[in-house]
Amino acid sequence: MSHHMSIKTRVVQVDPDRPDLNVLAAAASIIRKGGLVAFTTETVYGLGADATNSEAVTKIFAAKGRPSKNPLIVHANDSIMARQCVAAWSDDAEKLANHFWPGPLTLILPRSASIPDIVTAGGPTVGVRVPGLALPRYLIMLAQVPIAAPSANRSNGVSPTLASHVYRDLDGRVEMILDGGPCRVGLESTVLDLSRETPRLLRPGMLSRTQLQGVIGRPINLGPGVDDEVAQPSSPGQMTLHYAPRTCTQRLDLDSLDPGLDDHCKGKRFAIMNLGHPPHLIENKGELRISYEGPDAAAHDLYARLRLWDAAGLDLILIVMPPDVEDWAAIRDRICRASGMSHFDRAEAR
Ligand code: TXA
Ligand code: MG
Repeated sequence: MSHHMSIKTRVVQVDPDRPDLNVLAAAASIIRKGGLVAFTTETVYGLGADATNSEAVTKIFAAKGRPSKNPLIVHANDSIMARQCVAAWSDDAEKLANHFWPGPLTLILPRSASIPDIVTAGGPTVGVRVPGLALPRYLIMLAQVPIAAPSANRSNGVSPTLASHVYRDLDGRVEMILDGGPCRVGLESTVLDLSRETPRLLRPGMLSRTQLQGVIGRPINLGPGVDDEVAQPSSPGQMTLHYAPRTCTQRLDLDSLDPGLDDHCKGKRFAIMNLGHPPHLIENKGELRISYEGPDAAAHDLYARLRLWDAAGLDLILIVMPPDVEDWAAIRDRICRASGMSHFDRAEAR
């Protein structure tokens, strides 16, 4: 019989811009003692531990059910602390940090000796970022150590953008959840690899490749993305998904809405999300439906909506793909990871 040690999880509301320092001091003390604290950032909620303490970081992997080969992002309260986590700081890093930190950008750089193997999955590099909200920055400042934090969801699930999402996934596995309300960006940070000759975009985010290129004044290569081995299933129907609801989730192109949709969904209860196209296109379709006309609103709401729909006991979640333009790149990426294949791919595979 396995013995499961459950921790009492406390949820505390904190103003993300003017956080109560007494609350943050209590949270910082948990971090310093090697415990876990979940907290809001501008992107998604993170599950944090002292990045310099391997035993503490081990608890993150256990709480999430995350494979130990997937490295963690280290959060710093300013670029001085971020630089202490890396062994080499380049001109590109300097320019990007000056321009985008605090903010939703993670830089991959050679790691320093203060960062243990468990954080980097044994690799030679570390991801660092200074989060955009005062709440996590003050927490790090009070803890006086960098905080390793992946998204605060169970591994492969949908990232949390509300404290209630974290509670649902990690109740009994984390000591404290700092509830700063809904995440303002709603999608994970842009991950940029600066450890090679040419910078590489590993994960698109709401800061675009064009914006980053503009600041460093040279080209950035695309992927292979951080999660590509799991995003590309070797055989249909057997892929491991990332950022994925449990309900079968499929992508649609605009031109397959009519009349193919009715055939495809005959007798099925489904929800339909329309990204970037006029709302009337999905009128009367599905039991639940939502249209987002622009990428910012979609990013802000996407994960909460997927979690809500996932709990609704539907047969299918359909997502009408947004246009293939840069503004939608991060959302397109996450939708691809949340869904197996387009329903036409699936039809062909049958
Ligand atoms: O917005 C965010 O980045 C959130 C908040 C909490 O900061 N964090 C987050 O962490 O999304 P996580 O662990 O869910 O995603 C981090 C991604 C993973 O795909 C991981 O493989 C990649 O960044 N990553 C981390 N360190 C890396 C490294 N040294 N080299 C390459 N990829 C790395
Ligand atoms: Mg994650």
